Amino acid sequence: MKLLEGKTALVTGASKGIGRKIAEVFAQQGANVAFTYLSSVEKGQALEQELQAFGTKVVGYRSDASKFDEAEKLINDIVADFGTIDIVVNNAGITKDGLLLRMTEENWDDVINVNLKSIFNVTKSASKVMMKQRKGSFINMSSVVGIQGNAGQANYAASKAGIIGFTKSVAKELGSRNIRANVIAPGFIRTEMTDVLDPQVVAGWEAGIPLKRAGSTDDIANACLFLASDLSSYITGQTLSVDGGMV
Ligand SMILES: NC(=O)c1ccc[n+]([C@@H]2O[C@H](COP(=O)([O-])OP(=O)(O)OC[C@H]3O[C@@H](n4cnc5c(N)ncnc54)[C@H](OP(=O)(O)O)[C@@H]3O)[C@@H](O)[C@H]2O)c1
Repeated sequence: MKLLEGKTALVTGASKGIGRKIAEVFAQQGANVAFTYLSSVEKGQALEQELQAFGTKVVGYRSDASKFDEAEKLINDIVADFGTIDIVVNNAGITKDGLLLRMTEENWDDVINVNLKSIFNVTKSASKVMMKQRKGSFINMSSVVGIQGNAGQANYAASKAGIIGFTKSVAKELGSRNIRANVIAPGFIRTEMTDVLDPQVVAGWEAGIPLKRAGSTDDIANACLFLASDLSSYITGQTLSVDGGMV
């Protein structure tokens, strides 16, 4: 049996990395998938075709999650195209690292807007749809860094910690409508976001992880599948660390 048969899911920031793998696993598990990307329409269209091979409805939308109006339009477009939204994975995220004394206001604002404000934007619009149907599951992508902080990532850590407080609040507000909201806090996962890091630094981190390896996008997508499916129907307001034991 497929775990997401008949459900419609939105995954933000699915052109690559973790979001792409989540969209793939969801389609494999029978979900109709709406996904977003920002940079390349070509890549977005290629992914749309690739995922359609699993036999469910898949549509990619170019949409900047940090812009409230675009998020509102996105949700309206998805409802028009799919009729409903059952699952939202707020995954889109960026880093603009730097030590506090060198961090520009722009780098602070960009990271907060893309990583945190985007979640307010998408969740506010999508929750209206879920409230009417009296069911839904939000999964918001935080990070170990949002739990324990990291030198050189004050903006990123603040955005990822904010996601946890936001999600716990939404879980309390919307629980009575059968809408769940949970957080995944990935550890160190190999994607383009982390490929830019110094290999020596990476090797040092891996040595410090109890499971002695970086995580894969499958590790995160499988946790996401659990929180999206009815297997987790009595779980809300939680932060699931998927980090090989880092935190
Ligand atoms: N990789 C890790 O080790 C790690 C650890 C902890 C948490 N995370 C979190 O997991 C999530 C995914 O990370 P990743 O490593 O897969 O990153 P990634 O490979 O850099 O992919 C980021 C995705 O977000 C999209 N995106 C960026 N800005 C956007 C915007 N304003 N609106 C819509 N989409 C936007 C990108 O789209 P385009 O390519 O089209 O620009 C891309 O699809 C992020 O929230 C990240 O903070 C990652």
